[in-house]
Amino acid sequence: MKNNLSNIKKAKYYLDKNECIGIPTETVYGLAANAYSDVATKKIFKLKKRPKKNPLIVHYSSLKMLKFDCKTNVFFYKLYKKFCPGPITFVLKLKKNSKISKNVTNYKKTLAIRFPNNSVTKKLIKNLKYPLAAPSANISSKISPVSKDDVKDEFGKKIKFILDGGRSKIGLESTIVSLINKPEILRLGGIEVKKIKKIIGFNIKYNNQKKRIASPGQEKVHYSPGIPIRLNVADANKDEAFLLIKKRKLSGKNFYYLSKNKNLKNAAKNLYKTLRMIKKRKFKSIAVEKIPNKGFGEVINDRLLRASKF
Ligand code: TXA
Ligand code: MG
Repeated sequence: MKNNLSNIKKAKYYLDKNECIGIPTETVYGLAANAYSDVATKKIFKLKKRPKKNPLIVHYSSLKMLKFDCKTNVFFYKLYKKFCPGPITFVLKLKKNSKISKNVTNYKKTLAIRFPNNSVTKKLIKNLKYPLAAPSANISSKISPVSKDDVKDEFGKKIKFILDGGRSKIGLESTIVSLINKPEILRLGGIEVKKIKKIIGFNIKYNNQKKRIASPGQEKVHYSPGIPIRLNVADANKDEAFLLIKKRKLSGKNFYYLSKNKNLKNAAKNLYKTLRMIKKRKFKSIAVEKIPNKGFGEVINDRLLRASKF
């Protein structure tokens, strides 16, 4: 990544012109635009075919800029100190005089924000006069991208520029914590819930599935490779792609290791990349070995369950 500096300049050039570009983060790549601009943020929804009612996450590089837009509180500071920059998103109250475009929040009074931990993107945001609205850079309900090539796969020439920041280190989206009332987890993700509990000091709820209206993007169908997925499978059919998390003696070419030794963090990192590869190889369905429902395993299962409801 020798050309980082000129690429960051290029990225700034397009963003300043109210264009959408691909940006790297440690979780997944984002489709970014000036969060203060109605024109720019409207383009995000169009490119992604995203329903207008589904609000966007805004990415900051400094507390100073965040404080123009959001009200903070004691839980926010505790979690910020421990995990930021990093794969955690906070839902906070929007300030009345905030400049955030109404497209971002869908006219609501709350805002999801985060501090991404990718060195290229951090440098980029530091050079901007506005924060970046950026949902994952995939067409709505499809697999999130974890590299520049994945973003190209999704949007081709429809976007003018993708900033390269290497492969996403975490490989799945941030954990979302609402701090509007009592702290509550809205989406499982890159930081395990037990670590958040430890900082908050009391049991924090994960409001899963049906009751989940607060985070509208948590639709049942999401992250989908567009072919059926069968979960908790002991043995796959011959013509199915088989996702595994530990080494097995198998013949044939249809198996894909998320991890060879049940390392769930590595498995999470490999999940979207592997699903995308399987899709390209034109398998008709995917079987997945049972994945322990703890730590990152719980996050992988959450994503696979949604992906299986295609
Ligand atoms: O890791 C990530 O969070 C990535 C990277 C690019 O930062 N972004 C991401 O954005 O996953 P997206 O748009 O794909 O998912 C954001 C989720 C959606 O489910 C959306 O409904 C929810 O956050 N969300 C956004 N604003 C919200 C708000 N004010 N209240 C509750 N949920 C909100
Ligand atoms: Mg997404």
